[in-house]
Amino acid sequence: MAPARPSGDPTRGSCCLKSSVDSSIFRGVRIAAKPLVPSSISPVSSSALTLLGLETSCDETAAAVMRGEGTLLSSVLYSQHEVHRRYGGVVPELAARRHIETVEAVVTEAMGRAKVQWSDLHGVAVTSGPGLAGALLVGVSAGKAIAYAQGIPLIGVNHLEGHIASAWMERPDLPRPCMVLVVSGGHTHLYLNTSVGAYELIGQTLDDAAGEAFDKGAKMLGLDFPGGPALDRLAQSGNPAAIRFPRPYLDNNNLDFSFSGIKTALLYYLRDMDRSGHQRPAADIAAGYQEAIVEVLVEKAFAAVRRYKAHALAVVGGVSANSRLRALLAERATKVGIPLAIPRGIFCTDNAAMIAAAGHQAYLAGCWASWELEADPEWSLQTVQSSGITPSRRERGRNASPPLPTTRRK
Ligand code: KG4
Ligand code: ZN
Repeated sequence: MAPARPSGDPTRGSCCLKSSVDSSIFRGVRIAAKPLVPSSISPVSSSALTLLGLETSCDETAAAVMRGEGTLLSSVLYSQHEVHRRYGGVVPELAARRHIETVEAVVTEAMGRAKVQWSDLHGVAVTSGPGLAGALLVGVSAGKAIAYAQGIPLIGVNHLEGHIASAWMERPDLPRPCMVLVVSGGHTHLYLNTSVGAYELIGQTLDDAAGEAFDKGAKMLGLDFPGGPALDRLAQSGNPAAIRFPRPYLDNNNLDFSFSGIKTALLYYLRDMDRSGHQRPAADIAAGYQEAIVEVLVEKAFAAVRRYKAHALAVVGGVSANSRLRALLAERATKVGIPLAIPRGIFCTDNAAMIAAAGHQAYLAGCWASWELEADPEWSLQTVQSSGITPSRRERGRNASPPLPTTRRK
């Protein structure tokens, strides 16, 4: 089958944000004389491949330039916490608007810090899902504009695949099959990763995500937004054994999670404490609450490793920044004797370096997006394209028949 040929308007499928990426921004971008034809792109070696990564799926506007499989030339992040703080959570419409306002500056800074020219880029990797629809659209539209103007491939990256790539950024030799625990604001998912791009979902939360449990618990304790890091800090001066919160699903035999019960237990504990007129032992409460979440995560992750005979464990996503989780994981991994990868702090939470890293493999496999790439807020990781086969109802904007060798994801 002939390669799909990107053609036409690069902002098609995202018309409501068209004005955010047209001629008013990216003034320094050279406009390509001709529309992109994949077969006309000269092959580039893995080590020379230079990608711009873009991430706007939630409340961080991020851009990064990566060369080869892991030489990070720049990583710039603008966090919108100030915008959302007063609401105690991310407001999707405000997030999208702020991305529009900041994306140009963030990309320009990433290019400047990397000391590369637009013409040095071989492709643009952008998060196209899952995430907030309006927020994703900004990144996808900006990515299309840059790729179209430069005549270079566009790669739609699954946000979770980006988080997973951050484990290999930290530890490139991490063996597979690898058990991957993704713990973020919206996900608590266990995947068995047998080869690059092959993910089997083997457990997930049935209600709240771990990050959500942290954020909601922090809110109940009156902590600042974002709640997870604030609760982590407070817990460091508390005694994790002073107050015991339930460990839901710990003793059952499956690999699913449930965190809404912990949250309710905290609500009742605080209510009873307030009624009794005693002062809340805030640090002990935070430490006990955190311990319950973290213990469940650690136990389930290692149970999954045992059950699937995985050769390694990777823990990624915002909650993997949690100090207690990192300490307990490291302790257990040493005891069990299994390689463990947790990204360093700044790459646990959303960033564009991980998107460029995930885009690297997709680029080499020729899994390039067409100009019809859409933001897909519900994009499930298991439908990430494998073996070059068109994956879904929306085609996800990736080429059905890639123009470059398709050795990836076998
Ligand atoms: O991966 P991420 O940046 O965004 C999503 O993809 O959701 O994860 C954000 C989540 C938030 O719930 C935040 O509170 C949590 O990660 N988080 C933490 C810590 N740092 C971030 N939770 C616990 N302890 C932390 N240190
Ligand atoms: Zn994330």
